[in-house]
Amino acid sequence: MTERKIQTIKITRVLNECDRVRTLYFKMKNGVVPKPGQFAMLWVPGVDEIPMSISFCDDIGNWAITVKVIGECTKALYDLKAGDYIGVRGPLGNHFTLPASSCKHVFLVGGGIGMAPLKFLSHELKRSNFHFKIIEGAKEDGELLFIDEISDITREDCEFFCCTDDGSYGQKGFTPEIFDNQIKNIDIEEYNDTIVYTCGPEKMMYELLKTCNKYGIEMQASLERIMRCGCGLCGLCAIDPMGLLVCKDGPIFDRELLNKMEDFGKNKRDFTGRKIPLK
Ligand SMILES: Cc1cc2nc3c(=O)[nH]c(=O)nc-3n(C[C@H](O)[C@H](O)[C@H](O)COP(=O)(O)OP(=O)(O)OC[C@H]3O[C@@H](n4cnc5c(N)ncnc54)[C@H](O)[C@@H]3O)c2cc1C
Ligand code: FES
Repeated sequence: MTERKIQTIKITRVLNECDRVRTLYFKMKNGVVPKPGQFAMLWVPGVDEIPMSISFCDDIGNWAITVKVIGECTKALYDLKAGDYIGVRGPLGNHFTLPASSCKHVFLVGGGIGMAPLKFLSHELKRSNFHFKIIEGAKEDGELLFIDEISDITREDCEFFCCTDDGSYGQKGFTPEIFDNQIKNIDIEEYNDTIVYTCGPEKMMYELLKTCNKYGIEMQASLERIMRCGCGLCGLCAIDPMGLLVCKDGPIFDRELLNKMEDFGKNKRDFTGRKIPLK
């Protein structure tokens, strides 16, 4: 499995996205083409190895990840320049499943850095001729990601809604509220032909799950947990009660599995594996 082997890769391009967020482009040597929702383990020599969603991929093995500064390793990634080297393992984990061709309503709902895998997914949906609506939220103006690219991709036959907690850009409010309003415009008979893809703060995704449960709408969510091995060996990313591993069984989980997770929207684990409440 070439995906499990670490490749030493040169950064080819660095793009500033917004405050403390940058996209790093690099070319993989194994020629594997990842699917939207998959992630890679990024190793910064002398610092750490951490999971990052793949935010872009073309047909000739150029990938990108989009990093937001949180702690030491994300800061080290953020500070890299074109020409620097990193280690990359991937693509890892499962991926978003594209909708059935009969699907009538497709929503992508994301918050903050959660837009990274959703942006990749939006390109795949566009390529497969799906019409979709993107709902993006952030705390404030300046934190919304990929605005120009998403505006461009949603220009024809798709829609783009933005919101901020403080109303400094787009609508004032939260993505689950906008989603709920959009769902109310759909005929009840079409709930079965509707799907929502989401990635972002877990509390936000938990609110979306409640709405999807209410209307019987299919949902796929990308989860984050602290990862060490990224390939099912250490158990650090296990979610109770079924012991599902976010790195191997996920990071994408459907509504049925999300409803069975007692920790979803409530608890995560720290670096020692101890359970702590989600903020
Ligand atoms: C599948 C997956 C995809 C991800 N995709 C992206 C992405 O596209 N872009 C991006 O910027 N980040 C992404 N992350 C989150 C990223 O991996 C963490 O922010 C990073 O590991 C933090 O490392 P650090 O050394 O900078 O911070 P640390 O000093 O290790 O941690 C800082 C704080 O962040 C918390 N934390 C650390 N790792 C995680 C984690 N994996 N999940 C939740 N909380 C964590 C810690 O508890 C601590 O409070 C993803 C995580 C997963 C699991
Ligand atoms: S990170 Fe080790 S099992 Fe998932």
